[in-house]
Amino acid sequence: MKVILVMVSTLNGKITKGNDPHISTWTSLEDKKHFSKLIEDAKLIIMGSKTYEAAKETMQHKEGRLRVVVTRHPERYMTEKKEGVIEFRSESPGELVQRFEGIGYQEALLLGGGELNAAFLKAGVVDEIHLTLEPFLFGKGKQLIAEEEFSSSLELISSKKLNEQGTLLLRYRFK
Ligand SMILES: NC(=O)c1ccc[n+]([C@@H]2O[C@H](COP(=O)([O-])OP(=O)(O)OC[C@H]3O[C@@H](n4cnc5c(N)ncnc54)[C@H](OP(=O)(O)O)[C@@H]3O)[C@@H](O)[C@H]2O)c1
Repeated sequence: MKVILVMVSTLNGKITKGNDPHISTWTSLEDKKHFSKLIEDAKLIIMGSKTYEAAKETMQHKEGRLRVVVTRHPERYMTEKKEGVIEFRSESPGELVQRFEGIGYQEALLLGGGELNAAFLKAGVVDEIHLTLEPFLFGKGKQLIAEEEFSSSLELISSKKLNEQGTLLLRYRFK
């Protein structure tokens, strides 16, 4: 199963503006369109519990698109799970990928945040990164990838300028 990490960050790798969990205040219209299209086509989406908490009010569920929220405390979300639509799991990245591969999924979008990204990257189960770079610098904010022990080498698949201000969509694959 191909795992694609999809994120938007500032030039200095911040994925939030300070402590504000809502990213739509600074991401471009072009990135929002790109992201909506990816979500619309996705069958499997994986995210950390903090990302879920930040986004759940605006999330649109549909049959045939499964969201998996990774948490060490799935019991906290007993009332929010919905068969085939949203589940809360404490499996490791490797276990998750293996399980979904075993039941026939071909692709998963990993949507952050920085902590879960680091866990997946450390486990070596990410195949591509699709990163939108917004032309901002935030002195404070959460990191694209939380600090962890790993190093990876990637190669560019494509780059696209999304607007006049210089928002870039960069797609890389792991070598
Ligand atoms: N700019 C962007 O593209 C973008 C994308 C996504 C998110 N964000 C922002 O990033 C922020 C959240 O990022 P974050 O790094 O703080 O949190 P996160 O990665 O979304 O979630 C962290 C949580 O995930 C669970 N988790 C992480 N690793 C785990 C592991 N190996 N095993 C089991 N559970 C694990 C834990 O949940 P429990 O505490 O429940 O155990 C942990 O507290 C939000 O404000 C969101 O808006 C931005």
